[in-house]
Amino acid sequence: MARKSFSSPVIFPAVLAVSFASLLFANPIIASHDYRDALRKSILFFEGQRSGRLPPDQRVKWRRDSALRDGSTAGVDLTGGYYDAGDNVKFGFPMAFTTTLLAWSIIDFGRNMGPELKNAVKAVKWSTDYLLKATSKPGVVYVQVGDAFSDHSCWERPEDMDTLRTVYKIDNAHPGSDVAGETAAALAAASIVFRSHDTAYSRLLLNRAVRVFNFADKHRGAYSSSLHAAVCPFYCDVNGYQVRLNLLFTVNMNRRIALGSCLVAQSLKEAWIPRIHSENEVVLRAGDTINEFGWDNKHAGINVLISKEVLMGKAEYFESFKQNADGFICSLLPGVSHPQVQYSPGGLIFKPGGSNMQHVTSLSFLLLVYSNYLSHANKVVPCGETTASPALLKQLAKRQVNYILGDNPLGLSYMVGYGSRFPRRIHHRGSSLPSVAAHPARIGCKAGSRYFLSPNPNPNLLVGAVVGGPNISDAFPDSRPYFQESEPTTYINAPLVGLLAFFSVHP
Ligand SMILES: *[C@@H]1O[C@H](CO)[C@@H](O)[C@H](O)[C@H]1NC(C)=O
Repeated sequence: MARKSFSSPVIFPAVLAVSFASLLFANPIIASHDYRDALRKSILFFEGQRSGRLPPDQRVKWRRDSALRDGSTAGVDLTGGYYDAGDNVKFGFPMAFTTTLLAWSIIDFGRNMGPELKNAVKAVKWSTDYLLKATSKPGVVYVQVGDAFSDHSCWERPEDMDTLRTVYKIDNAHPGSDVAGETAAALAAASIVFRSHDTAYSRLLLNRAVRVFNFADKHRGAYSSSLHAAVCPFYCDVNGYQVRLNLLFTVNMNRRIALGSCLVAQSLKEAWIPRIHSENEVVLRAGDTINEFGWDNKHAGINVLISKEVLMGKAEYFESFKQNADGFICSLLPGVSHPQVQYSPGGLIFKPGGSNMQHVTSLSFLLLVYSNYLSHANKVVPCGETTASPALLKQLAKRQVNYILGDNPLGLSYMVGYGSRFPRRIHHRGSSLPSVAAHPARIGCKAGSRYFLSPNPNPNLLVGAVVGGPNISDAFPDSRPYFQESEPTTYINAPLVGLLAFFSVHP
């Protein structure tokens, strides 16, 4: 059951009883982690989320082909792509965000991945092959396959699925600049990944990104207005500034390509500079959601990404983005009172709204990338009367990763299959039902309920899946019905791939 995960901002009394040092060292690291093992597993997870016809080199063997007629009701081939979480719907919005973050992980940390790099690139391609299908018709983007209400009323293996595979699209008359912008960003980011692996594919992705981006820009509107009944409350875009921000993210990805090669004309980049300035005015007025980063909100990610140009001395006119990025980083420092970011007593970043680990991994990812950008520029972050060094930001990010891997009050790894104690009853249809090999007969919609309600562990390990995680008291139920805690999602894992790659080389 995927869902909207950013709740309206809840303002807590900004009292943090823990000091900087005690948070960092509250849970002494018992043994150092095997980040390389965790990296391999975090990427393997994506194979368990695959939809469509599985290739011969599929390593997650308990999965089989599924949803082979996706798109047929609309006369298009929409097979492939990823199920976003523990259900069997293909939501374009989180799939695109996942792809962007996987690509960004590879762009910044691919050199740390060793033999896992090829698997990470495959994980991106599984998504971009689908996104290319979803954007093959000019002026149309297919943004979802599967009726989420029909899907969520059943507990079925993807291989057995007989729920409605309704196809949802946006077009000129029903705009969705947010999801189209996100899709363009994913394609553009992936084109950078493939530049050195497959030049022709890279160019295809970039050309498509530009076309989808122009469509998003020309036909402005939020997809949750056009497709409200289908996407809300699952992935309802509630961020009023979404449209512009996704465009910005896309533009920046294009700029990075333009800086590195001639794939995008210099003129495109120059033409966008005044526009980025005016869009940023809006960012600055966006108030209390500025320090978020997730599929629904790109503020913090854009500010950090564009700050790289500022820190490299290439684009002083983006100075305001760096100020925003600095402010965002300061808001994450433990011991600094801030209404939007809390820490659990055990030291985990916590934001209300459910599926907290998506915030933990994406915010930690930004801490790490910003730390690297600062290191290269020999800079620190000014935070009022104090400063935050790149080393401190790395330490904070690593502390979050270590919490996920088991350095927490429960001594539980939140990654399935990592360590000896990890969640056994994750909210995931395929993992919790017997595999097709073990139980070849079909398990119908309601016949799955007894597996959902069973106290037994899941029969199939979805190795590498990181679940929504504990509540703010560091408590975790390990129970399927508690989906906010026990459901994995692709966008929890995507930024974690980059984090684990870095720490596997710099433990
Ligand atoms: C966290 O979960 C535990 C165990 O279910 C519960 O006792 C506690 O009240 C929860 N904390 C919050 C803040 O919800």
